[in-house]
This record gives sequence, structure tokens and C-alpha cells, in this order.
Amino acid sequence: MNNVVAKALSEQVNKEFFSAYLYLAMNQHFEDENMPGMANWMYQQFLEEQFHAKKMLKYLNSRGVKVDLEQIDKPQVKWDSNMEVFQHVLEHEQYVTSSINNIQSLAVDEKDFATMNFLQWFINEQIEEEENATNLIKQLQLIGDNGYGLLMLDKELALRNFVEPVVE
Ligand SMILES: [Fe+2]
Ligand SMILES: [Fe+2]
Repeated sequence: MNNVVAKALSEQVNKEFFSAYLYLAMNQHFEDENMPGMANWMYQQFLEEQFHAKKMLKYLNSRGVKVDLEQIDKPQVKWDSNMEVFQHVLEHEQYVTSSINNIQSLAVDEKDFATMNFLQWFINEQIEEEENATNLIKQLQLIGDNGYGLLMLDKELALRNFVEPVVE
């Protein structure tokens, strides 16, 4: 496998684990805020991010690349409002999108067609990630300081359940 692309994708594994860690920090924030549904949503996202990292590891291994794991940075652990948390989610996912797009553009430059194909799944996934965060921000805007609305949203987010797909 092309070294430049392999290095960039290996670094992305660390970013996916950092994402998982950030969502776990958000889970802890909402546990503390007595928002069990939002805490659940973050926990499911924590699981999903670990799946992303594993999917990348498996692909790199299949191409004969060993990943040297790096330190995972400490995530932010305090937020001032529900809105601030979900805005952070959107900003973070926009950052992940640009990071994946950068790897894709390296793969294009290096004519690594297999990786281009592999990354297409993540490019589609990022559309969903940004859409989810944007929708939650819009719902929080509608709710404002309506306690009943907030309770309804929290009940809805309690239903999210990540089922790990089989990694091919
Ligand atoms: Fe991810
Ligand atoms: Fe997702």
C-alpha cells in the first residue's frame, strides 16, 4: 500500500478513537445533567466511533499495514448548555469530514483506487453524521427553554441503539 496514504489513514484511526473518547465525555456530561436519553445518544455514538476505528484497522491490516497506536488526547469535559454540546458535535464532525476528504484526495493523487473505494463508505457516513447533528441543533432551537419539549427529545434519544455491522 502507498506509504503516504497508509500514514494518513493510520492517523485517522487515532482520530476515530479520539472521537469515541469525546462522545464518552459528552455521555458523562449528560449523565451528570440527568438527561438519560442524550447520555444514551452519546454512548451509542461512542460505540459507533470505535467501530469506525476498527473498520480502518481491519482495512489497513488487509493491505499489510501495521498501525502503531498513538496517545489519545484528553477531550473537553465541560459544556455550558445542551446546545453547546450539540454544536460541538457538529463542529467535530465537520472536522472529521475534512480529515477524511484530505485522505481521499491523497488516495486520488497516489492513484490508490482500493483506498478510494474504501473511503467512499466514510464519506457517505459523514453526510449522515453532519445531518444528525444539524437536526438535533434545529430541534433544540425549536424547544428553546420549553421543559416539556426537552423531555420529549430526551425520550426520543433514549431509543438510539447502535448495532455493530460485520466488518468485511
Ligand atoms: Fe467516525
Ligand atoms: Fe453515524
